[in-house]
Amino acid sequence: MFPVAGLGTRFLPATKAIPKEMLAIVDRPLIQYAVDEAREAGIEQMIFVTGRGKTAIVEHFDIAYELESTMSERGRDMRVLDATRATPGDIITVRQQVPLGLGHAIWCARAIVGVEPFAILLPDELMIGRKNGSGCMKQMVEAYGEVGGNLVSVLEVPHEEVSSYGVIAPGELRGKLTEVRGLVEKPAADKAPSNKIVSGRYILQPEVMRVLEAQGKGAGGEVQLTDAMAKMIGTQPFHAVTFDGRRFDCGSKTGFVEATLALALERQDIGAEVRAMAERLLRG
Ligand code: G1P
Repeated sequence: MFPVAGLGTRFLPATKAIPKEMLAIVDRPLIQYAVDEAREAGIEQMIFVTGRGKTAIVEHFDIAYELESTMSERGRDMRVLDATRATPGDIITVRQQVPLGLGHAIWCARAIVGVEPFAILLPDELMIGRKNGSGCMKQMVEAYGEVGGNLVSVLEVPHEEVSSYGVIAPGELRGKLTEVRGLVEKPAADKAPSNKIVSGRYILQPEVMRVLEAQGKGAGGEVQLTDAMAKMIGTQPFHAVTFDGRRFDCGSKTGFVEATLALALERQDIGAEVRAMAERLLRG
């Protein structure tokens, strides 16, 4: 499930008419990275929780008839569009009519989720696995195979940054897995139970929908997924997976620019040119 109904106010005016999830890192929109990560993990059905003005996301994974017939008439390489192909029926959308928070967005998809465990990927968080290593969701699916229950991905941030995120109270540590004893959304830095933040990847049991049903507003006056998950601790196994890879917070301007530079520098086709350009710019 991809919650993509957010208004993207931090990127205005760029996101006035296009969804923030369609902003591109080099030449792939953010949503594409998240969908590719899910597919790599073996996930086949994608649920988009969308809102008004977000249809471009669905179009991105549809056939673009005029574009494709013109390209093929002109003998262009169609492989650039491969990642945008979806098996008919595998993209499902539901609308969150009002922006009441992440927890509310997830709850909007309850009828689609039904009785199975499901994964959530927040496309703002760009997670890049190590060279020849697995992506974040694949690492989580592997961990799920071991422990089941509920899982969140975590990473450590400097203590003064924790108040922008969901934070875990860590229990026993076993390799990449940490037992989750508590969860709190956007705590004040001096009240935070750790500096391990929830980094936008989840595997949850469907029972979370029933908890969300009764969930009141939390931090920021929004229905928080973190608060609902916190209530499930103790009733079901709950673990955190420390992602082995890199993460870029593309919900922030600096994170977005960092991701653009990092991924451009690594590209076979443009990396060398970008490096030379960056060096020129730094010399002034
Ligand atoms: C959301 C979650 C938060 C998580 C964060 C990751 O916050 O509520 O727990 O740590 O994503 O980016 P938001 O960015 O919507 O404020």
